[in-house]
Amino acid sequence: MQSYYVTTPIYYVNDEPHLGHVYTTVAADVLARHQRLYGLDAFFLTGVDEHGQKVQQAAEARGIAPIELADQVVERYRALWPKLSISHDDFIRTSSERHQQAVQEMWRRIDASGSMYKGFYEDWYCVPCETYWKETQIKEAGCWDDEQTKHLCPDCKRPVERVQEESYFFRLGDYQQALLDHIAKNPDFIAPVSRRNEVVRFVEGGLHDLSVSRTTFSWGVPVPGDDKHVVYVWIDALTNYLTGLGFPDKDVSQYWPADVHLIGKDILRFHAVYWPCMLMAAGIPLPRRVFAHGWWTVEGEKMSKSRGNALAPDDLMARYGVDPLRYFLLREVPFGQDGDFSHDALKQRYNSELANDLGNMLNRSLSMLQKYRDGIIRHTGVEMSGDRALIANVEAMQREVHEHLQQQAFHLALERINEVVRHGNRYVEDNAPWALARQGDDERLDTVLYHLVEMLRLVTLELTPFMPEKAAAMLEQLMNASVSVDGLRMHELGGWGLLTDGHQCARPEPVFPRMDE
Ligand code: MSP
Repeated sequence: MQSYYVTTPIYYVNDEPHLGHVYTTVAADVLARHQRLYGLDAFFLTGVDEHGQKVQQAAEARGIAPIELADQVVERYRALWPKLSISHDDFIRTSSERHQQAVQEMWRRIDASGSMYKGFYEDWYCVPCETYWKETQIKEAGCWDDEQTKHLCPDCKRPVERVQEESYFFRLGDYQQALLDHIAKNPDFIAPVSRRNEVVRFVEGGLHDLSVSRTTFSWGVPVPGDDKHVVYVWIDALTNYLTGLGFPDKDVSQYWPADVHLIGKDILRFHAVYWPCMLMAAGIPLPRRVFAHGWWTVEGEKMSKSRGNALAPDDLMARYGVDPLRYFLLREVPFGQDGDFSHDALKQRYNSELANDLGNMLNRSLSMLQKYRDGIIRHTGVEMSGDRALIANVEAMQREVHEHLQQQAFHLALERINEVVRHGNRYVEDNAPWALARQGDDERLDTVLYHLVEMLRLVTLELTPFMPEKAAAMLEQLMNASVSVDGLRMHELGGWGLLTDGHQCARPEPVFPRMDE
């Protein structure tokens, strides 16, 4: 069976889960569910990033051990994902024994390639971002303060610290040309294109050797053979993508190279520069694709702890339900671009596309079927050109949705599905089943109702990855049976015309009640 491997970033345990974390994880879930629906053996990995100075300091501030802090926060993620219908196959904790072994093996392999050396490190460090900065980088960003020593992090604008210590270095610069060649040969490697260009410019600007160990804190994976040092958090964190597959003990080739690492734009450099260079050094194939999505603002403002406007996933789910939230996140903003979360926008999107278009379509079709035919489908086999146009649109939609999702173009996939729904609504108007019933044109009425229900069945199948609960509710009415969306497969169910003659549909129940504006 063909396989598929999708990952999310692993989330820091010094923060509560928020909308940004939900976004990537839902996106990855849709890809995994879609690939499973299309018959692939999909593996979906998420987890938490527990090590580093930030977590150690946060734990110290509370007077607890880092592992205790991690244990607390990790539960919030573990509890959240099932509530959001996230179907991950594994959950990584970087504090686990299996991960420590993977990181140490990764270290040994990089070391064995001759790409590691011990030196002396002197630089600026941003604790919150876990990022080192060169004086020149801080100056270029206009964050250098000539008067005092309070220089700021070019990314987050918080003060950076001077650090000076013995460190291991990774010869990142040795891989500069190989990385540029790889990017040139694999145009799909970094997406969207604007991000690829950004990475190319950065790499062409020259790659410096990278400090990859620390001695100033201990909350991390010890460097093999030199446990005064802990492994730099990003080598530690990035290796999780292999740990999840059982590296180094198991053969990872069933799923590796990953089909896509989904990440936010702020961690692009780590995934599209450091990670591939590390993998090249370790002799491991590179992931097929890194997709950097944009950031959400909330009602036009940056989401942050200090503003207190970070959206808590539990509140959003309580207010809107899981599936409307999943739908909105992927429909509202093209994946890759920044977007704004507004409560009004969510309600508008929901009311117009789900309550009005899709929900009504289901409701009116099943109502008419009940009213005129006691809920029973007849397969007349007689088609007119309008019927064939609807079928052709559904079949084209199936192909195009798949193509869009191969490119992580979630909003286009949903828009393409909605196009069929709108076509269905026009089809109802054009064929006026109520008039056919009045005229006693039974054959034509049966044909029209058949096409409506079959169209709805195939549209709903495509929606299962996006809205697993709502789609199950829709399918239960259409199939008049309980449905588990996890086991559905397109090669068994995706063909037009599989609804059998005499099939009985259930009575309609509203699936998408209107939300108050
Ligand atoms: N631990 C690292 C990732 C290591 S992956 C090997 C990390 N963690 S994080 O918890 O800070 O961030 C996780 C993800 O959340 C990032 O991809 C980041 O882009 C995303 N987001 C954080 N705020 C966001 C928004 N406001 N909007 C969208 N995504 C955002 O970085």
